[in-house]
Formats: sequence, C-alpha cells, structure tokens
Amino acid sequence: MIEDIKYIAQTAGEIIRGYFGKNFSVEFKSDVKNLVTQADKESEKAIIEFIKKKYPLHGILAEESGSQSKESDYLWVIDPLDGTSNFAHGLPIFSVSIGLQFKREIVAGVVYDIMRDKLYSAEKGSGAFRDNVRISVSKNSIIEKSFLVTGFPYNINENPENAFEKFIAMTKSARAVRRLGSAAIDFCYVAEGVFDGFWEVHLNPWDICAGKLLVEEAGGMVTDFIGQPIDIFNKTILASNGIIHKKMISILREN
Ligand code: IPD
Ligand code: CA
Ligand code: CA
Repeated sequence: MIEDIKYIAQTAGEIIRGYFGKNFSVEFKSDVKNLVTQADKESEKAIIEFIKKKYPLHGILAEESGSQSKESDYLWVIDPLDGTSNFAHGLPIFSVSIGLQFKREIVAGVVYDIMRDKLYSAEKGSGAFRDNVRISVSKNSIIEKSFLVTGFPYNINENPENAFEKFIAMTKSARAVRRLGSAAIDFCYVAEGVFDGFWEVHLNPWDICAGKLLVEEAGGMVTDFIGQPIDIFNKTILASNGIIHKKMISILREN
C-alpha cells in the first residue's frame, strides 16, 4: 500500500504545482485568515477518488470534506494541501500529507514536499525515507545549539496554550526558531535532522498523522507537552530528536 500512497500524494502534488503562481479561486473558511483554494479541493478530490476506487471499504478523514467512516479497520487521514497560506501567497513551502491508520495505529505516512519534489515516506517498523534514502533525526543534545521550528494556528489571536510566551521562551533558549507554514514539512525536517525539534499548540489529525510516524521511524520522539504519548486527535504536539525532548518539555511547561 505504501507505493499507492506515494503515487497518489505525488499525483495530488502535481495538480497543486500546476496552479502555483497562476489563477485559482480562494474562499475563506472560519475567517479571513483561514483559506481554502481550488488547489486544496482538487487535490483532495483526486486522493479520495483514488482511495474509493482501489480501497472502497476503507474509512477516510480528510481536511476539506471531513469524515467518511466505514466499518473498516483502515483510516486514511489526509491533508490535501498543507501550507495553504504559503501556496496562496506564492511562497513555495507546502505539501501533501497522507497517513494511514490500521486499528487506530499509524502504519504508513507520506509527505510530498511539492516544490522541492521530495517524497518522504515511512512504514511502521521499517524506517523513514526521503526519495527512498534512509533518513534519521539529529544527534544534537544541547538546547543552546538547537535549531527549532514551530507554527501558529488560525486561532492564534486567542493565544491558545500561551503560544506567544512559549515562542518567546524557546527563541531565547535555542540557536534559532523558524516558522515555515507547513506542519507536515516541519515534521519531515525533524525526521531528517535539519531541525532538532518542532512544537505547535493546536494541530489537527491531518497535520499530524504522516509526520508523527516519519519522526518516530527516523528515531525521534513525538509526545504532548508533558511527554505523554499522543494520538492524532491531540492538539499539542512536540516532536524532536528525542535527546532534547526533556529540555523542550521543561521550557514548554514553564511558559
Ligand atoms: C496549517 C499549516 C501551518 C500550521 C497550522 C496548520 P493548512 O495547515 O500546517 O504550518 O501552523 O496550524 O493549520 O491550513 O495550511 O493545511
Ligand atoms: Ca494542515
Ligand atoms: Ca490543508
């Protein structure tokens, strides 16, 4: 099945790439910050059509069309375009993220970094890969030398989980903190050791599913802010190389 997931993630990515920098329709979701474009919708349509044709009995949870639950043990968790704001404004950092659960356990995850044409994939127990080359998390153990990434949710004005305070504290502690705008790509960069850690205060299942498995299969750790195991429905997420995890938790807990 991993080959099917890779195939449909790339196919959906090609649809999105075709719209990049061109004309496409844009609508608002919850408010003017939260966009959905024609590319999000067409990507999701292509992915869902593929699943329905090849795996008609499987359940689907997709960002734009919601849940199509079936009696199946399989659940596809889909972000058809992660980084919509970047895409809509012409910043080439966005991805397609597809995770697969079996009996509520994530068994496969694929993130396609569309403009860099990089395909990240992982199967439970088999390691994490970028374009079929094995990747692993960084070995950095010193928070002052750490290169971190975060993101902000659409409801940031409510400052959920003291997001601003946490951002300030991490920025003071780390070498640098970046904000890329695609949570799925943030996870990939932790998995391949570019970033030592990633946290975000309010994510959705489709932001988390593939990326969590990628980081874990690359040797890293993914928990909530107090170090507890998470499932895809957890909002707060901390992913790291595992070595600086405790230190990141103490900063997140104090702020
Ligand atoms: C968003 C991106 C962003 C993160 C937001 C997400 P979307 O997803 O992953 O990096 O900070 O929390 O909602 O809306 O572009 O699919
Ligand atoms: Ca997303
Ligand atoms: Ca999205």
